[in-house]
Amino acid sequence: MYYGYHIMVGLGTIFIGIMVLTSFLLWKGRLYKTKWLLWILMFMIPFPYIANTAGWYTAELGRQPWLVYNLMRMVDGVSPTVSSGNTLFTLLGFVGLYLLLGLLFLLLVLKIIRKGPEATKMALK
Ligand code: HEM
Repeated sequence: MYYGYHIMVGLGTIFIGIMVLTSFLLWKGRLYKTKWLLWILMFMIPFPYIANTAGWYTAELGRQPWLVYNLMRMVDGVSPTVSSGNTLFTLLGFVGLYLLLGLLFLLLVLKIIRKGPEATKMALK
């Protein structure tokens, strides 16, 4: 939980710094000529996903052992009518669905990258 929280906040702070710098250079009309920052921006693509996952870890691990703080523990939230087989089946269904959506996402992103940016919007002089 400690690392989850610090990874999230660390990345969030880095994102804010990069956003301020990027906005400033965009405003000054120098962003598209500042190659090192464009590289950083491209390599930053996976990090919001990592921050998201770390944030979720923080929330889920941080609330243990409570389902509803001070009212209901996790152990009391187990449903006697849902079997472990049902849970596994649903889990596999979600894994399959998100795998499909993830692959679709990658394919679409690759398609956009291959197409490249529109030259007219690049303000390259
Ligand atoms: C300065 C930066 C940030 C601060 C101070 C911050 C703070 C927090 C706090 C206090 C929580 C609640 C933890 C709890 O349940 O008690 C949280 C949850 C979360 N954060 Fe962050 N966060 C930051 C950046 C980010 C970033 C950049 C992302 C994603 C791109 C992110 C994604 C999440 C997610 C997904 C949760 C879990 C929400 C939930 O399921 O309830 N956070 N954050």
